[in-house]
Amino acid sequence: MAIQSLSVSDFRNISHLKLELSPRVNIFSGANGAGKTSILEAIHLLSHGRSFRTGKYKHYIRQQQDQCTLFAEVSSLLTQTLLPLGLQRNLEGELKIRLNGQNIDTISVLAELLPVQLLNSDTFLLLEGSPSVRRQFIDWGGFHADAGFLVAWKAVKRVLKQRNSLLKYGKLDPLVRRVWDAEFVRHAEALDQYRQRYMDALIPCFETVLAGLIDIEGLGLQYYRGWDRKRPLDEVLEQGLERDKSLGFTQVGPQRADLRIRINGVVAAEILSRGQQKLVVSALKVAQGQLLKQTSGRDCIYLIDDLPAELDRNHRHKLCSLLDELQCQLLLTCVDARAFDNCWNEITKVQEFPIEEGSLAKDHGNGSQE
Ligand SMILES: Nc1ncnc2c1ncn2[C@@H]1O[C@H](COP(=O)(O)OP(=O)(O)OP(=O)(O)O)[C@@H](O)[C@H]1O
Ligand SMILES: [Mg+2]
Repeated sequence: MAIQSLSVSDFRNISHLKLELSPRVNIFSGANGAGKTSILEAIHLLSHGRSFRTGKYKHYIRQQQDQCTLFAEVSSLLTQTLLPLGLQRNLEGELKIRLNGQNIDTISVLAELLPVQLLNSDTFLLLEGSPSVRRQFIDWGGFHADAGFLVAWKAVKRVLKQRNSLLKYGKLDPLVRRVWDAEFVRHAEALDQYRQRYMDALIPCFETVLAGLIDIEGLGLQYYRGWDRKRPLDEVLEQGLERDKSLGFTQVGPQRADLRIRINGVVAAEILSRGQQKLVVSALKVAQGQLLKQTSGRDCIYLIDDLPAELDRNHRHKLCSLLDELQCQLLLTCVDARAFDNCWNEITKVQEFPIEEGSLAKDHGNGSQE
């Protein structure tokens, strides 16, 4: 998958911008506040129905305007088709998404169409943030690896909500509870198996990618399923019941799953420098892209905000080479495009977009401004 053309209207400081993108490397450069991150944000909004910067749509609609409109033509190498995708959000909060002439109201359809990987300054959260960020990371892979994943994930969410509300408000009849627990265990085990299978495939892939980027001795990933590895969930639930009742929620289960990233037993975020953390997270995301390609032949689209930040020249080059080898579409931002000099293979199609005040710089040949 790649975005062939992108049109952004009344989004952040962009009044109207139309870009013809390279299926490979696209570099957006320019001064602080020019609108580079906003372009990545627009693509994220198109592919997820939400921004990565804010949950408040009023903040991304251009000031003094009633609505923003985004439009992309998405090309698929696999099916050799070009799909029009449009999104409109107005100040009243209405969201309209149309794909190939059809209204879309399930965001998972978009996520399936456009597997997007985002690397930005929040990326560090994957190492130092709460387990929910790492669960999202695992679940991105599970979702794209198997259609059954989403079914299991939704079932766990639904049954857990019910169990928690019984714990919190209901008089918990033992018979009723056993029925719900059996249901919970069934879906939880299914979800765990999808996650485990995905992580079993991802971990060796990650280790190879990381070794090509940086040498960090003793760094290892371990998937934690959310309850004791050696004990069945029904037994653990039974044992924790009194505490669950007093807390009003279920303490163990796949809602507690995590990815433990450690160096000789110590949480990696407590040891690694910022640049090293960025490389580890980049390796995780590159590994996901590689695995998706290997298993389904599909390409990710990488949105990488300020790639050069925190990386020295050598590591910047190594990361660019790895991304280049993936042969997928990259949208990168930086202050100065020279940061990417000599980073790409000679035959890689690199398109540069200097951005000034929400527009393409005047003397630039790519895309068009209206
Ligand atoms: N709703 C809005 N309407 C108009 N302008 C906005 C709106 N929201 C943000 N802006 C402005 O749009 C610009 C968007 O900046 P953006 O974050 O895309 O810049 P950038 O090129 O990534 O800069 P940096 O190099 O500092 O990361 C900023 O100048 C900001 O003040
Ligand atoms: Mg920015």
